[in-house]
Amino acid sequence: MKIPLFCLCALVMLHGLEGALPQAPSYGERGSDLGIQVFQQVARSKPQENVVMSPHGVASILGMLLAGAHGDTRKQIISGLRYKKNGPYKMLKKLHKTLTAKSNQDAVLIANGIFSQEGFPMEESFVATNKGNFQSESRSLNFSNREKAANEINEWVNNKTKGHISSLIKPDMLDPTLTRLVMVNSIYFKGLWKSRFQPTNTKMKPFKAGDGNVYSVPMMSQLSVFNIGMATTPQGVKYKIIELPYHGNTISMLIVLPSDEDTALSRVIPHISTATVKSWTEVMRMRKVQLAIPKFTADAEVDLEAPLAALGITDMFSQAKADFRHISAEGLHVSKALQKAKIVVNEDGTKAAAATAAILLARSSPPWVTVDRPFLFLIRHNPTGTILFMGQINQP
Ligand SMILES: *[C@@H]1O[C@H](CO)[C@@H](O)[C@H](O)[C@H]1NC(C)=O
Ligand SMILES: *[C@@H]1O[C@H](CO)[C@@H](O)[C@H](O)[C@H]1NC(C)=O
Repeated sequence: MKIPLFCLCALVMLHGLEGALPQAPSYGERGSDLGIQVFQQVARSKPQENVVMSPHGVASILGMLLAGAHGDTRKQIISGLRYKKNGPYKMLKKLHKTLTAKSNQDAVLIANGIFSQEGFPMEESFVATNKGNFQSESRSLNFSNREKAANEINEWVNNKTKGHISSLIKPDMLDPTLTRLVMVNSIYFKGLWKSRFQPTNTKMKPFKAGDGNVYSVPMMSQLSVFNIGMATTPQGVKYKIIELPYHGNTISMLIVLPSDEDTALSRVIPHISTATVKSWTEVMRMRKVQLAIPKFTADAEVDLEAPLAALGITDMFSQAKADFRHISAEGLHVSKALQKAKIVVNEDGTKAAAATAAILLARSSPPWVTVDRPFLFLIRHNPTGTILFMGQINQP
């Protein structure tokens, strides 16, 4: 059964909607905004499909790469994430700690892993920055055996996502002689609804899907008090917002539904940002309603290269331009960046998981430098700086 696209981009909203929020975006919001923009592109390219992504997962893998990046490669990541130039790590460390705090009654498990080729010399500061700020684990593998290396990474991801993401890395994404590093971020969330749905109230009901057809789907319902509001996009498209809190009260699911039943979801998605989500506080009120939402499961795999490149993060994917000198003196570039995510929503609550990976490859051969145009030459005695000969060659 095909259940259409939901806007799950604002799924994990820490600290709910109440409480004073600062004016400047938090580091959680800065990273999430980039992830939301990736989601918007993916949703645009798949208007009829279910899409589920973790905006924070996208930001996390870039945060890990940032520690090794230099020059334009670094500048593009910093500006894509709207991080301040100096020392985002203090803020990112705090964010990581807050998100994974034991005091969250809903489980948010975040794990970061750096899998490197045995014997590959990594800069110590790169490993230390990732360990100190994101509790990244480092392991070494032998990528010559692609199947075994992929299995080991996948088993780690499978463990960290409690079995929700079982095969992130395919052996053919690895190169037996050139893969140096695979960096992985995994996020697992399990939350029980603050107000659960009675399974006996779940009934098959019609749902008008994105493709225009009407399908019969299991619809959960309850009569309860929910925080609900109505907002309008700058283009005048009205939509409803419904907040479903999880029982720990720090995390909510926000559902966004165009008010007019013939309005495509794609008319609302471009308007979503963390600032938009923040602005909803003003229009939402507690109201007693009879709420009906479908039970659903969705999973998706997204290649992050094209969406990130469209947002100006291009150099890290280029063999010629990538500059990861703070990982290693050997030239490295990202040969693949991907995310797999899954969500299961039922009467009890939600389980969601995402795993994001970046695979770093060494240059396949030293870069070419070709002297194929008129050139100048100087013959210099280096100890004295004396130029012994000099010339220009216009035609060898
Ligand atoms: C990795 O495996 C290959 C093939 O099995 C082997 O030749 C090579 O020595 C191994 N590398 C290391 C660092 O163990
Ligand atoms: C996954 O978890 C099992 C059981 O706890 C453990 O034995 C195994 O080493 C873990 N695998 C990885 C790759 O961490």
